[in-house]
Amino acid sequence: MSENLIPFKKHIFVCNGEACSRHGSAEVKAKFMEELKTRGLLRKRAIKGDFMCTDCSSVGFCDLGPAVLVYPDGVWYAHVKPEDVSEIIDSHLLGGKPVERLVKNRVPSEEGA
Ligand code: FES
Repeated sequence: MSENLIPFKKHIFVCNGEACSRHGSAEVKAKFMEELKTRGLLRKRAIKGDFMCTDCSSVGFCDLGPAVLVYPDGVWYAHVKPEDVSEIIDSHLLGGKPVERLVKNRVPSEEGA
């Protein structure tokens, strides 16, 4: 299997668009990378781990940033701060329970499901 096809469980996208960047998205991404790497959970290139974390550009949550999206769950978090990252990892990524106080959207939406 190619190193690019190493399976992983979830993909965390951290918006690095202009508005989210102004509100500290780089620090949020850095915290995800640091915590996932420290715990042996980060999947990066040939490094095996359950969770990949990358940047993404604006997803239209510009007034609610920093925006963080977790797939395949389709959970969109808003106003994420570095101090929220451990809770998202523990509760959502490892525990399967999204941090509801930060969830602002779900895809597909519950009305459309
Ligand atoms: S800049 Fe992040 S959602 Fe628009």
